[in-house]
This record gives sequence, structure tokens and C-alpha cells, in this order.
Amino acid sequence: PVLDEILNLHDFEAIAKQVMTEKAWAYYSSAADDEITTRENHAAYHRIWFRPRILIDVTKVDWSTTILGHRSSMPLYITATALGKLGHPDGEINLTKAAAKHGVIQMIPTLASCSFDQIVDAAQPGQVQFLQLYVNKDRNITKRIVQHAEKRGIKGLFITVDAPQLGRREKDMRMKFTAEDPSEVAKSGSDGVDRSQGAARAISSFIDPGLQWSDLDWFKSITKMPLILKGVQRWEDALKAYDLGLAGVVLSNHGGRQLDFARSGIEVLVEVVAKLKEKRGLTFPNEKFQLFVDGGVRRATDVIKAIALGATAVGVGRPFLYAFSSYGVEGVDRALSILHDEFEMNMRLLGANTIKDITPDMVDVSNISAH
Ligand code: FNR
Repeated sequence: PVLDEILNLHDFEAIAKQVMTEKAWAYYSSAADDEITTRENHAAYHRIWFRPRILIDVTKVDWSTTILGHRSSMPLYITATALGKLGHPDGEINLTKAAAKHGVIQMIPTLASCSFDQIVDAAQPGQVQFLQLYVNKDRNITKRIVQHAEKRGIKGLFITVDAPQLGRREKDMRMKFTAEDPSEVAKSGSDGVDRSQGAARAISSFIDPGLQWSDLDWFKSITKMPLILKGVQRWEDALKAYDLGLAGVVLSNHGGRQLDFARSGIEVLVEVVAKLKEKRGLTFPNEKFQLFVDGGVRRATDVIKAIALGATAVGVGRPFLYAFSSYGVEGVDRALSILHDEFEMNMRLLGANTIKDITPDMVDVSNISAH
């Protein structure tokens, strides 16, 4: 279909499935084990209902916000997803360009297909980018990556903590990962690369399963970038991150690609907000310690629910991959425009003029219990 006929983010997935190579589809769409968590990620949003306000002048609505102190046209960011060139020859650059046009922030993955510098070079002056970090067993390599990123102007370091070992994505494992794959990571990191078990496992053998809480002081000593843990799944760990003085956490299960039966980020958010208020008197959204959520976000209404419950912003992953795999940069542009239009309409229908008006009383979470 032509892009004008794409009406929502789900549409990109249906088209991508038809036009992508079998291997790329397997890598992007797959999730761990029985894929229950992936299904739950989106389904969890279906248990939250709205309590809109009426008779508010909503002629003007504004859903822009700040994320770690940086302007964003919407309370969402493009999260890190590896191997962009599997889906399109321009890979992650598609995301960089569309992000610039829409004033949203892109999180660059450690395992991007384009090199880190290519992705930074493709950005407009002043365009904000974050970096997702997989921590190498060789800390000198990690230190180099982190300090280079800081020098190149990266504004936040998201350390992935839910992947000491890659989950079993069986759809992906059935595809052999071959040397011709358009990933520079795979070509350069050939040491220890196991090509027999799918793309994910082939590229991830350098990740350090020994990473632990006591390593975080070291990160603080090598960079001034805000540090955020990506992949927190219980309030106890969010509290530890806060007590360590980190800038925030992403409540995420890696799009269901790691531990199957991990809970959805939106559900964990309810628990984290309640417990951090109880234990430390914190209220959210909070400038000093920001909560992010990702997984299964497909509509502006999903984003708005997370904002109402205390998130600063949410991450969106697969929809943008499907968009550029099908249509290149114009696809991502269209996806962001759709979200933009959805925000405008839903803010009006909710009686919310700005993000600050999206408060906990706007949602009914009686179907979700805090632990
Ligand atoms: C990911 N994700 C991910 N996360 C991370 O920290 N490092 C990575 O390299 C990747 N790579 C990756 C590849 C692909 C193909 C997918 C789909 C996801 C996880 C990602 O950042 C995010 O947590 C989820 O994608 C969010 O769920 P949705 O929006 O895809 O449902």
C-alpha cells in the first residue's frame, strides 16, 4: 500500500511481514520462548481505562515535554534496536533522519549496523541522541565506547541490565546467521561469533554476565553522562538505582526478548511509583529520577497511560523497524506523524491541554494491582 493508506502503527507490522526477508522478520519480530511476555506487553495497556475531563477549552493542546532535560516534541523516544541494516540498507540512519524532522530523541544501540560515528554524523546540529550500552567483558573497550560517546555529544547512557545472556528467540535461532549479513558488528567482532544460532546470539557473545551493582561506581567515574538502567523489573531495583544516584530507570523486559513471563513495563510502573513514594517520598514524574517504560507501545493512548502513571516518556521499538523496513525514512516519518495526530486528538478527548494535565486521576487502574 502507499504510505497514505497506513493508518496506525499496527499496519506497518502487517506490511513488514510481507516485504521483509524471512531472516530479518525472524530477528525483529521474535521474542523469548513462548513469547508470552511480548503478547502481554501490549495487552497490559488494554486493562487501563481513561477517566476524561469534559468542558475544558482544548482549542490548544501541547504534548511536548523534556526528557533528561532535553526537549522532545512528544513524550516518547526511539529506543535501541540492533541490526538496522537487516531491514533496510540505510539501517539506523533512517531513524536518525526521521527523529530530526520530528524533534524526537533516538537511542543508538551498541549493536547498530551503521557505525556509531555514522549515526552521530547523520544527526542535525543540536539533535539529541542517547546511547544504549552493552557492557563488554573487556572494560577497556566499554570505557572507550562510553568516553567516545560523551565526546561526541551523547546526552544519556542507557546501560542494558536485562541481558546477561541472550534470551532464546527460537524463530530467530532457526535462521543461520551468515557472514554476508550486513552488520559491521558481525564482520568485525568475529572472535567467538557463533553463526549457527541466529543473529541475536551471533553478535552478543561479548556481553559480560558478571556485570553487577558494584560496577556502577566505575561508570560514574568514567563519564558525566546521566546513567540510566534499561531493563528494571521490580521496585527493589528501581529503589537501588535511585539510592545510587542514577538518573533513572527504564521499566522494560526488552520487548519480551529476554525472560519470558517478565511482567509488562506499564504494570511494573504502577508498583515502582507506589513503592518509591512509600519508601523515599518521591512523586512522579520526577526531574531528578526519571521513569521510562517500553514494550508494546503502539498508540498515543498507550503513551498517555504511562505518563498518567508517572513515566517521563516511553520507548518505542519494533514499529519503527517495521516502518523503515517497508518504506525507508518516509515510513518512520509517517509513523511519527501518526503518533503526533493521535496525541492531538486524544489530548482533546481527555481534556488535557499539556502533559502536566495528564495526572493519575485520568486513568482507572483497578485491573492492575500494585505488589
Ligand atoms: C531490541 N531491544 C534491544 N535492547 C537493548 O537494550 N539493546 C539492543 O541491542 C536491543 N536490540 C533489539 C532488537 C530488536 C529487533 C528489538 C525488537 C528489540 C529492546 C528494545 O530496546 C525495547 O526494549 C523493545 O523493543 C520495546 O518493545 P517494542 O516497542 O519493540 O514492543
